[in-house]
Amino acid sequence: MEAKIVLLPGDGIGPEVVAAAVRVLRAVEGKFGHRFIFEEHKIGGCSIDAAGVALTADTLKACQAADAVLLGAVGGPKWDDPTARERPEKGLLALRKGLAVFANLRPVRVYPTLVGASPLKPEKLAGVDMMVVRELTGGLYFGEPKGREQVNGHIRAVDTMAYGDDEIRRIVDLAFQLAQGRRKKVTSVDKANVLETSRLWRQVTAEVAAAYPEIKLENMLVDTASMRLVSHPAEFDVVVTENMFGDILTDEAAVLTGSMGLLPSASLGRGGPGLYEPIHGSAPDIAGKGIANPVGTILSAAFMLRYSLKLEKEAACIEAAVEKSIASGRLTADLGGTASTIEVTENILQNL
Ligand code: IPM
Ligand code: MG
Repeated sequence: MEAKIVLLPGDGIGPEVVAAAVRVLRAVEGKFGHRFIFEEHKIGGCSIDAAGVALTADTLKACQAADAVLLGAVGGPKWDDPTARERPEKGLLALRKGLAVFANLRPVRVYPTLVGASPLKPEKLAGVDMMVVRELTGGLYFGEPKGREQVNGHIRAVDTMAYGDDEIRRIVDLAFQLAQGRRKKVTSVDKANVLETSRLWRQVTAEVAAAYPEIKLENMLVDTASMRLVSHPAEFDVVVTENMFGDILTDEAAVLTGSMGLLPSASLGRGGPGLYEPIHGSAPDIAGKGIANPVGTILSAAFMLRYSLKLEKEAACIEAAVEKSIASGRLTADLGGTASTIEVTENILQNL
């Protein structure tokens, strides 16, 4: 098949890990006889430097016209001024909104050979395999009004948490669909004892659940969920939650695996191009050193093949190659190893 893929390497370690994933995609291209046409654009801090904005209209248009988008990371100390009008993250949020990718899939599984890399006791980690489904285009990140105002000589800052029943229904429904192909359990995480948005979330979730009698629904408050994620992580199967709770809980869940550098994500809408990115940030402290873990981005590329290009065999092939590389102990510094980004990538290429 032929596919058009937009690459958005972004800032910090972004370009290094995206380059690694492109090598893997090139290998898949040769091995399976596909043709991937890559087109590279700027996003985040580098786009602010070049064009004054974190995402230009042209870049968004190119992404909308592609079959899929692969992103590295955005941000860095250079653009970290809290009073700045334009921040790198704004580009990422505008891209998610512009592609209407409301569902962010973040799988968390523990590789048996990496149990020691996690701060949790090994017996807690046995059987950990969850899929966090994070709502991505609503909630506090996008609610209006938002901004600052002068009130009685003080500055007041406002963010708004808002959800429509339609926004809740489509993400919760997707979570139930995913649970059908897994262990048939959905944990919906909210703060329904305090927030009205959460009470609506719970109500809509109960309605959706009625259509899936074979799936077990569990409602959990977000504070409890944050505790149980580390005390009983193996009990979770599919976790569905609103945007900011999902942001926080997936960083916490990443700790179970031993490193943020391992985790991929897929952001999907209704049709249209999907957006694929590792869940880690731009890691400015190690940028340019050639030691970043490329696995999260390489697995994101596998997700891209699976969900946007429907190349299941090819996706599974990349995942097996990564698994073999991890099992062989080729690890970057985040996992206590000494391998470089390129060494890990070349080992994965060999396994392919
Ligand atoms: C993530 C990141 C982003 C988010 C930031 C960079 C805006 O933390 O993808 O988890 O909060 O969504
Ligand atoms: Mg985050």
